[in-house]
Amino acid sequence: DLELSLRPQRLVQYIGQNKVKEVLGIFIESAKMRNQPLDHVLLSGPPGLGKTTLANIISNEMGVNIRVTSGPAIERPGDLAAILTNLNENDVLFIDEIHRLNKTVEEIMYPALEDYALDIIIGKGPSARSIRLDLPKFTLIGATTRSGMLASPLRDRFGVMCTLDFYNADDLKEIVLRSAGIINVEINDSGAEEIARRSRGTPRIANRLLKRVRDYAIVKCNGKIDLKTADSALKMLEIDEMGLDKLDRRILNTIIEYYRGGPVGLDTLAASIGEEKVTIEDVYEPYLLQIGYLNRTPRGRVVTEMGYRHVNKVKKNIGQMTI
Ligand code: ADE
Repeated sequence: DLELSLRPQRLVQYIGQNKVKEVLGIFIESAKMRNQPLDHVLLSGPPGLGKTTLANIISNEMGVNIRVTSGPAIERPGDLAAILTNLNENDVLFIDEIHRLNKTVEEIMYPALEDYALDIIIGKGPSARSIRLDLPKFTLIGATTRSGMLASPLRDRFGVMCTLDFYNADDLKEIVLRSAGIINVEINDSGAEEIARRSRGTPRIANRLLKRVRDYAIVKCNGKIDLKTADSALKMLEIDEMGLDKLDRRILNTIIEYYRGGPVGLDTLAASIGEEKVTIEDVYEPYLLQIGYLNRTPRGRVVTEMGYRHVNKVKKNIGQMTI
């Protein structure tokens, strides 16, 4: 479908993340020359930057199948055993949100990663014994929003670790232009730049905004996207000049109005806003931190002077105290 076809299939089509592309390209080529599976790969970074896309590209480049699942979907050791025993030699197993694997599943994962073997316990109590089941060689690709959340025994078993960063405006513009070609909408340079600039460094957001601007252009204009159309459409969507949406601004305003700009703990903040902690922490905070509107301190989140200015408020300092 369309959503899938926006994702590049090969490494050369993947825009940005140049360091990641360079190292992965070398490890993939070496593995193919040695006729061995690629070492296990851990991909980390905020949502929407292309971790799943990269996993698919790796399997395409290796010429193997990919089996896709997620940490919470693998509830019991038997679920993992079923998946592992059904892989073909050198296949890729992709586990999204791998930091959410439960402990019992994680433990049977260790010998699987290390020795391509499953240790299965048979029986109970004193007569229980363990038998070892050989597995096909495979590559685990794990994806996580924060690699710090992985238990270190698991993290240590990844031979390759890649962290994805927010995209710069040039790379995002190239992605918008490529996607516009695929969904067949006319767009000029300044239109693409405007969508790129307001996409929070995130291809998934850029592609979503492109489609919504396209809809606006079709209904309200002549179907073509230029700067004026992009700006009007993004205004309608309440995406501001910096690309922040309503929830971004609510986070800043809540910290300023209820907690004097902070510090405020994540639990308190999440309760005040009525959002999930993980949504704030994994989806919203990283970009607000990146653009310097928010700081993380040991005592909680603090809105910076730039953050105040963005929501048209002034940070007042009286001596040591901030009000
Ligand atoms: N679509 C989404 N992410 C992309 C990327 N990094 N390169 C090209 N197209 C993309």
